[in-house]
Amino acid sequence: MTARKLFVTTALPYANGNFHIGHIMEYIQADIWVRYQRMQGAQVNFVGADDAHGAPIMIAAEKAGKTPQQFVADIAAGRQQYLDGFHIEFDNWHNTDAPENHQLAQQIYLGLKANGLIETRVIEQFFDPEKNMFLPDRYIKGECPKCHAKDQYGDNCEVCGAAYAPTDLINPFSALTGAQPVLKSSEHFFFKLSDPRCVEFLQEWTQNGKHVQPEVANKVKEWFSVRTNPDGTTSEGLGDWDISRDAPYFGIEIPDAPGKYFYVWLDAPIGYLASLKNLLDKRGEDYEAYMADPQLEQIHFIGKDIVTFHTLFWPATLQFSGRKTPDKICVHGFLTVNNGEKMSKSRGTGLDPLKYLSLGMNPQWLRYYLAAKLNGKNEDIDFNADDFLARVNADLIGKFINIASRAAGFITKRFGGQLGTVSADGQALLEVLRAQSGALADAYEKRDTARALREVMLLANRVNEYVDANKPWELAKQDGMDARLQDVCSTCIEAFRLLTLYLKPVLPALAVQVEAFLHIAPMQFADAQSALGAGHAIGTYQHLMQRVMPEQLDALFEPPAQSQQALAAIENEVNPLPGGEAIAPTITIDDFAKVDLRIALIVNCEAVEGSTKLLRLTLDAGEGRTRNVLSGIASAYKPADLIGKHTVLVANLAPRKMKFGVSEGMVLAASHGDEKANPGIYVLEPTPGALPGMRVR
Ligand code: MSP
Ligand code: ZN
Repeated sequence: MTARKLFVTTALPYANGNFHIGHIMEYIQADIWVRYQRMQGAQVNFVGADDAHGAPIMIAAEKAGKTPQQFVADIAAGRQQYLDGFHIEFDNWHNTDAPENHQLAQQIYLGLKANGLIETRVIEQFFDPEKNMFLPDRYIKGECPKCHAKDQYGDNCEVCGAAYAPTDLINPFSALTGAQPVLKSSEHFFFKLSDPRCVEFLQEWTQNGKHVQPEVANKVKEWFSVRTNPDGTTSEGLGDWDISRDAPYFGIEIPDAPGKYFYVWLDAPIGYLASLKNLLDKRGEDYEAYMADPQLEQIHFIGKDIVTFHTLFWPATLQFSGRKTPDKICVHGFLTVNNGEKMSKSRGTGLDPLKYLSLGMNPQWLRYYLAAKLNGKNEDIDFNADDFLARVNADLIGKFINIASRAAGFITKRFGGQLGTVSADGQALLEVLRAQSGALADAYEKRDTARALREVMLLANRVNEYVDANKPWELAKQDGMDARLQDVCSTCIEAFRLLTLYLKPVLPALAVQVEAFLHIAPMQFADAQSALGAGHAIGTYQHLMQRVMPEQLDALFEPPAQSQQALAAIENEVNPLPGGEAIAPTITIDDFAKVDLRIALIVNCEAVEGSTKLLRLTLDAGEGRTRNVLSGIASAYKPADLIGKHTVLVANLAPRKMKFGVSEGMVLAASHGDEKANPGIYVLEPTPGALPGMRVR
């Protein structure tokens, strides 16, 4: 079988705002699919771009005092940090105002025209006489003709829900200038979708079961019989599509039609091709030849709100300009956050992707969580904080990551890192894991990552049952059981390798860490059928992934002001001690004994980059290893002041993941209850003679 050749895109986001979590979800879904295909040996070009054109962007740029080009460039400059942050690997990111798109859009339009599918018609529209421009519906406001609510938009009433045409509004006014709009006629260009050639093509294309999900095909079917007009009435069959707008407009000029521009939705999907062409040009590859390959599959990932554009207008545009039509339109639903209402398309709500990253939250947690919910259908999904915590901590970490930590130590310490021979019971377990590779491939192919991850977690359960049944920690204590211990742990390591391989499209960075730890080349899907084998030497296990801390989720969903405090609380482990505050309620000696205080030597101390509050202490508490503790004492000490001193460590405090790393305990320091009025922090130091590891009681 020859390798599949895939051209994959995600919807092009409007360049009038930063990415929100809905965009990130779409990119993660597509990125997982692309990574899976690459693991199967496919040659993929995965591209995106900014959707630069249209009246809203032109108006926003003007408000910001920028040219539309500058406005769009400024938004584009902010894109990469999101993509890198969530491990989303586009091969190219371009924009629809680029020269490639101007050229392609004009060529495609001329193709449609040559086919007799472009028609001009004079239509009447509202015009703002002060701004000298035709007004898009959303920039016209007035009184609802049905319920007489004031200040309603030109297309529908938010109070009574009535749909109407802008010309039906009572006392209409321009939302841009407040001026009373006048009706003005203008020539518009239409793409004749009602032409029998188009109708026939689109009916076949959308209903032949090859290009869209069944639920989407059903929805699309309705549009061939009835459509809703702007005034709320219905007509039969596909309507022609108005593809022109009058100057001033930020867009692409229509050839031989001065002052006329393509409506943004005509040139936006052509931006997919422009981004691909830009990529191939940069690589010195031939775009026309690439597109002409009959093996090439063209695949678009989109949300359910833009189905019409991608299942009717776009395939027809390509077909009747003599180009390749898409092979698949993959439609997903909307993401809501904590059962919130559907996010605003431009603002999003609830979960700020950059804030997520700034809280030190692992991007792969989100990838895993979203993948566990996405099933390849166009259903909406909800991000729920409790669910997120449970799935990541209990499933991803508890069931999967822990397999490696349970086995790797013995291989390193007892067998010099070498794997041993896996005996029959271990082989049987591994065969169960390998046997699922076809089912998992099928689930990934269908974007049913929910099913894929469910299967993987069931396999992880099997592996954990094997560990519990064989108890390597007990084998390790028994004489003469060395070979069995090596056998059991080698089985676990191989099982962990297989599970990592299966999760690699979802957890790409983790897979790289595991490949380094196992001393293996980047895993392909076919590697599920091979094994590491006896004698293979693995590296030293290092902890692969932290758990989610509830504090991080609290901070993520707190309104900005409070989240500053929550963030400070995560950053600053030093609690205020008496002095300016009341003595705390009485405790018993047993309560106190729960706190294990130890003398610790400060072996090293350094500043924490990016934090003005914290110092990073390396402590020796006599445990035969050192600990890393982050302490909010940077205002009071220079790192060199503390190196070589002894102090007191709370040694049994649960490790805490902070923005700047994990803190494994806390050192004691004194400060006044009102730190603002009485600044000063004093780290505790025992009198001379105390040694690291001594308990403080
Ligand atoms: N510019 C058009 C697309 C042009 S494609 C040639 C557009 N842009 S958008 O920024 O509004 O949306 C981009 C993509 O994000 C769409 O696929 C849209 O469905 C998706 N999403 C926007 N909000 C979303 C959620 N809340 N959840 C999931 N996807 C969402 O439309
Ligand atoms: Zn109304």
